[in-house]
Amino acid sequence: MKLSTGHRWMLAMLSLAVTGSFSTAMAGDPGPANGESIYNRFCIYCHGEKGEGDGPAGALSGVATGDLSNKAYMSQLTDQELHDRIAWGEEKYPYLQMPGWRTSLSEDEIRAVMKYVRTLAVDKGPLTTPSPKERERKFNTDPLERGRVYYLHYCSGCHGKSGHGDGDAAKNMTTKPVALSNPGIAATITTKSVNDYLTARKQRKDTRNMPIFEDDFKDKVDEIVLYIKTLAKTK
Ligand code: HEC
Ligand code: HEC
Repeated sequence: MKLSTGHRWMLAMLSLAVTGSFSTAMAGDPGPANGESIYNRFCIYCHGEKGEGDGPAGALSGVATGDLSNKAYMSQLTDQELHDRIAWGEEKYPYLQMPGWRTSLSEDEIRAVMKYVRTLAVDKGPLTTPSPKERERKFNTDPLERGRVYYLHYCSGCHGKSGHGDGDAAKNMTTKPVALSNPGIAATITTKSVNDYLTARKQRKDTRNMPIFEDDFKDKVDEIVLYIKTLAKTK
């Protein structure tokens, strides 16, 4: 299974959170396609028991884990659209920032878990947040929105959701991540400085506690930097 930078980072975070239970779940024989048991093995630790997005590992991803229990939202997705989001995840729907499951689950298993996900939806009144289509459109047309999602996904676990250097993963670090929202620091950050820094990490010339991102990540840096600048303004 070839993992993108995002997957690897997410999975690294996950293995910190659920060491043991995660690998056991992955190694186990999937058995007959039973949607509920698949959900409990593969989805529950992020999406939570009732699909509300409150599983223990969800908090680590930075991007809020989707609420699969909101009927007004979920009913806007056809079975095919729901299926494809589970199967392909961020590969086809990057606004979601979830790894796709088609490499871990068979087609039957994806269909079974999709049916189970449908049973989690309960009536919570009319939709007050953007619909799936609006979210997808915003992501595809607004570089700042892409920067926000990428920042939350790749950087906020350490640098904090608002850039204060206080992400969950930073709690036990001796060298704290830089507070990118500090206006003095934000002012020095450019696409070039971040790329130089990431390259230095990759070549092991900079040994600080940053993850090593793959080359394809460079495309995203521009948008992440755009977003980091807005964090300084909201201070
Ligand atoms: C590592 C944590 C994680 C795991 C494990 C996980 N998800 Fe997700 N899932 C997410 C995140 C994060 C999103 C994006 C949420 C968002 O942006 O609204 C998401 C989104 C989704 C969506 C799309 C919802 C929408 O807004 O269109 C579906 C459907 C979904 N997950 C189903 C599943 C199923 C089924 C499984 C198990 C096979 C699973 N997820 C496992 C984190 C996870
Ligand atoms: C695993 C935790 C972690 C993640 C994830 C992370 N960082 Fe960092 N970052 C750090 C630490 C630790 C430092 C260095 C603190 C020090 O040594 O002063 C740092 C430093 C930085 C610096 C300052 C570099 C300098 O010149 O001093 C920038 C800029 C930065 N990170 C940007 C990012 C961006 C952008 C992302 C997401 C793409 C990201 N970081 C993801 C932990 C992380």
